[in-house]
Amino acid sequence: EVMERVGSVKQQLQRLFGEAFRDKFPDELDIVPIITPCKDLRHGDYQCNNAMSLFAKIKGRVPEFKKPQAVGQAIMDSLPDSEMIRGCTIAGPGYVNVTLSTEWMAKRIHNMLIDGVETWAPEPPVQRAIVDFSSPNIAKEMHVGHLRSTIIGDTLARMLEFQNVEVFRRNHVGDWGTQFGMLIEYLFEENPNWEAAPTEAIGDLQEFYKESKKKFDADSDFKERAQKAVVSLQGGEEKYRKAWAQICETSRREFDKVYLRLGIKLEEKGESFYNPYIPTALELLSKENLIEESEGARVIYVGGITRPLIVVKKDGGYNYASTDLAALWYRLNEEKAEWIIYVTDVGQREHFEMFFAAARRAGWLPAEEDKYPKVSHVGFGLVLGEDGKRFRTRATEVVKLVDLLDEAKNRCKATLIERGKAEKWTGEELEQTAEAIGYGAVKYADLKNNRLTNYTFNFDQMLNDKGNTAVYLLYAHARICSIIRRSGRDVEELKKVGTVDLAHPDERVLGLHLLQFPEVVEEACTNMLPNILCEYLYNLSEDFTKFYTNCQVVGSPQEISRLLLCEATAVVMRKCFFLLGITPVYKI
Ligand code: ARG
Repeated sequence: EVMERVGSVKQQLQRLFGEAFRDKFPDELDIVPIITPCKDLRHGDYQCNNAMSLFAKIKGRVPEFKKPQAVGQAIMDSLPDSEMIRGCTIAGPGYVNVTLSTEWMAKRIHNMLIDGVETWAPEPPVQRAIVDFSSPNIAKEMHVGHLRSTIIGDTLARMLEFQNVEVFRRNHVGDWGTQFGMLIEYLFEENPNWEAAPTEAIGDLQEFYKESKKKFDADSDFKERAQKAVVSLQGGEEKYRKAWAQICETSRREFDKVYLRLGIKLEEKGESFYNPYIPTALELLSKENLIEESEGARVIYVGGITRPLIVVKKDGGYNYASTDLAALWYRLNEEKAEWIIYVTDVGQREHFEMFFAAARRAGWLPAEEDKYPKVSHVGFGLVLGEDGKRFRTRATEVVKLVDLLDEAKNRCKATLIERGKAEKWTGEELEQTAEAIGYGAVKYADLKNNRLTNYTFNFDQMLNDKGNTAVYLLYAHARICSIIRRSGRDVEELKKVGTVDLAHPDERVLGLHLLQFPEVVEEACTNMLPNILCEYLYNLSEDFTKFYTNCQVVGSPQEISRLLLCEATAVVMRKCFFLLGITPVYKI
């Protein structure tokens, strides 16, 4: 278990201002303190922005307040004494600017070094969440869209876990549906010996899929046999189940190559898992009178969208939507998840909106979208090639993700060898560093953009050691580590005997930035926008550079304090890397 949490500075200020509000405005218990960092540090470190809206609510009723400024003043006067605040001022229409006590800031950073950065973790929004991410389809390729889902989903899960939320990382693989009849029948007919050597019989799954589809489209007798095979599979016939399991296993082995490289942990509960729950789920929706008949299909009309959500197809089969409804029911009722996050491309937005709306109408979810239990669709844009079109390596073929990741690593390795590292490092060090930088670069290039925008995949750009790239940031971190190493001091010892001091303005700016780490994680997590954390990390390295340029560390009278500040920066950078799924390097 972690040490006692102190949470974020912002949360602490919110509590203080909350007390002031209750004290001064006991009739306005619903107001939530709005605290933001000051944009211009000359005004203060944080500001409270409630005065104007509060004034609008109470004016007339409370005649002593003639202007918003007076409300701001009253808030300021009621603020309880706290060691964290050095002073406050009122600005504009009642903003309360807060300047933190520099000694308090320094102490908090020092404590973090001793007790660990986990003590800074923000209050968890929920106890248990599900992140549904990656989720490729069996027998089809795992494409760059799935790569984005994998990278973004993993980061969101990590951010929640940092806040001590119990996270179920779910791989909702497409492992059910009519295409399996075709695949199984093809396996039986083309490879009668499939049971003896299943992996070889299937071979390259993509090829296998293509060939069976070709036969399916060309040969109507085969098509009929394939449709019968679906029935046998769904009826649970042993031989069919076995073939299905083999095909899934072959796919899984391919997916795992990607997960292994990227260090992704997730638990598969594919579409097939929820299949038995579909009738129950539909029954419940039926009871609420939500399901109607339309052109032979069974559908749900949801407000705003004219096209209904089909939940039972004309042929009586279930589909993507019925599965997602059953999965949602299972996650809410069996798994007791309070927040369910789905990470897919924005193209699927309507699907999610529709079945979320159906669940709301059925009373499975609260009518207010921001109340828990809550569902969120985290959509993302396309990955583009240099030509501005969907990313592919050759004109016709999609990119194989494993090859893509290997190329990133190999390029990094070549650069490291060029820089003479092969002579200085062990083979293992070279490999590990190349992997950390290569895979880190791919992840960061994805995460640093607002997820909704399309971005262009470019190796030269993402592997550049200048600019806002993982390479630059990993090097910046390694450089800090080497400053500490070369000082010849033992940091653990310094933590015990030394103190942190933020006397120099650039030290204080860096210190404030460090303190803002937990609230940035909270913001990135609440809005499900990892780019907010990337931006924080990049700015942190810039603040560090400024500090390091203007404040001599080794050999100065403040050497100990400044080394501790270096260490604190490295600790927070590493936590950022960790949350982004990037492995730090210590030597460059
Ligand atoms: N398998 C789907 C695809 O490749 C993604 C599944 C997302 N998760 C879900 N519960 N619908 O597009």
